[in-house]
Amino acid sequence: MIKHYQTLPIQTERLILKKGTIDDFIAVHEYDLTKLRDIDGEFEYKKMNPEVIKTWFQLDIEQVQANNESAHIFDWIIYLKKDMTQAIPIGDMIADRENIENIGDIENENKEIEIAFNLHPDYWGNGYMPEAINAVLDYLFELGYDNIKSGYSDGNVKSKRVLEKTGFEHYKIEKNAWQKNGKPIDDYKVVINRPVLKPVGADGNPPEVTGRLPSSPTKNTEFQDTSNKNKWINGGINKHE
Ligand SMILES: CC(C)(COP(=O)(O)OP(=O)(O)OC[C@H]1O[C@@H](n2cnc3c(N)ncnc32)[C@H](O)[C@@H]1OP(=O)(O)O)[C@@H](O)C(=O)NCCC(=O)NCCS
Repeated sequence: MIKHYQTLPIQTERLILKKGTIDDFIAVHEYDLTKLRDIDGEFEYKKMNPEVIKTWFQLDIEQVQANNESAHIFDWIIYLKKDMTQAIPIGDMIADRENIENIGDIENENKEIEIAFNLHPDYWGNGYMPEAINAVLDYLFELGYDNIKSGYSDGNVKSKRVLEKTGFEHYKIEKNAWQKNGKPIDDYKVVINRPVLKPVGADGNPPEVTGRLPSSPTKNTEFQDTSNKNKWINGGINKHE
């Protein structure tokens, strides 16, 4: 059983992850991030039309977020903490496609889910995404997932590195998964497993741990409902300049 499907806020040392507004999505996707992945050599800063982003939320954004919850999709905006009352939207993270290889298995017997993420290019190179991913891994393992998957396309070296840094391991290459400019592109699939404690050996050695260890608790404390709550939740979030 997965404990719940709510996208609750998460706090790390430098970041807050929580549900966002349409303006936050527009700030994060100022540039078309699909053109900044180095796939087939494409690396172009192309501005996104905010109206296009609005079409992602043809329904009211709160309705979309509620629908996500019932579809077992977690959707966070990643905010950089600025001071006690302000934060800047810098990225997004989604955890969805439960049991991706067992579609139709509504019980999610394998207890697996896939994550995907983006960061506005102004904030690259600071290790923010590994920090966010580590916190989301802790969140999802705590909810009861056993296997967390992700992936990247050939050429996307930044994503590859970020996933390596957070402990993911390759389990599959999908050759010719899709086409870009008429060229076949391979997709790499990676996974990380819940830590498992092996029993103490007969020799009395301490238990061995396999899988991922939780990140430092100081880096992943659930966002506390403090007196600043209304500032975080109802505005007070600085839009990306
Ligand atoms: C993927 C993404 C989130 C990574 O964010 P980031 O801030 O660049 O990540 P980090 O700085 O923590 O790490 C990037 C790593 O890639 C390395 N890297 C960067 N360019 C590289 C290159 N050309 N070749 C090899 N390694 C490279 C960096 O050195 C760094 O590794 P290090 O910490 O060991 O030095 C961000 O680049 C992004 O949003 N890209 C566009 C959208 C995208 O691709 N999303 C993911 C879809 S799967």
